[in-house]
Amino acid sequence: MKGVVLAGGLGTRLRPLTSVTNKHLLPVYDQPMIYYPIQTLVNAGIRDIMVVTGGNSAGDFLRLLGNGKAFGLKHLNYTYQEGEGGIAEALSLVEHFAADGPVCVVLGDNIIEGNISAAVAEYRAQGSGAKIMLKKVPDPQRFGVPKLDGNRVLCIEEKPAKPQSDYAVIGVYMYDEQVYDIIRSLKPSGRGELEITDVNNAYITRNEMTWEELEGWWTDAGTFESLLRASNLVAETGANKMYFEREEVVANAPRL
Ligand code: DAU
Repeated sequence: MKGVVLAGGLGTRLRPLTSVTNKHLLPVYDQPMIYYPIQTLVNAGIRDIMVVTGGNSAGDFLRLLGNGKAFGLKHLNYTYQEGEGGIAEALSLVEHFAADGPVCVVLGDNIIEGNISAAVAEYRAQGSGAKIMLKKVPDPQRFGVPKLDGNRVLCIEEKPAKPQSDYAVIGVYMYDEQVYDIIRSLKPSGRGELEITDVNNAYITRNEMTWEELEGWWTDAGTFESLLRASNLVAETGANKMYFEREEVVANAPRL
């Protein structure tokens, strides 16, 4: 199974922090933000990874990450998103890399405490379709929110004024090869983006969507409040703590 980290977009909600650098290169406690989603994939046993970058600082990803040695990787793949056409548009750019099988996608500003190995194993057993991961949150209106009927997800609403559950759809998605055709069929939303929620709703309509509740804490880091919360959570409890050998990562970090 291949892995993708989406780190495009312009991070406008974090200006002026993002005026001269990419959001995903900002610090979250003691590491650049992008380290966490890469580690999430590596901890799930995924070694073949592509990073989608964007904006004016794309070269800095290569300087920072190189071939992924800090994560025990032999090679890291990159591609570039022009502009800010949405999460689904960013995902469409990995088709040449990942269309030969299932893919696990992690948003570049999503940080988790634990790991997704069990969900990835269940998705692989599922064999086709898609899987999303949910987490109960106090402020679901900030996220994609599922309407649930027991084990079934009936639909997902993007940033609803009146959320139909207190779950957020977190930025970890598993898809089969159909995802690229689904993205080609999408129309831009009101905010002018190809929405990942529309991709997920397409799988729901086909009755090919499952979900898993994430254990441990989860946060995004795309606003001032959530960036601070992310740093505090990592400082207090560590991220990806079950498998994350911090000393080893620091020792192997590329010398720039
Ligand atoms: O964090 C989880 C939430 O992420 C989900 O609950 C929502 O359903 C989903 O739409 C998304 O919401 P946001 O509005 O918070 O996404 P944002 O625009 O902040 O983008 C999140 C990441 O996706 C960003 O760190 C990099 C990547 N991205 C985003 C855009 C708009 C790209 O790679 N390219 C893009 O054009």
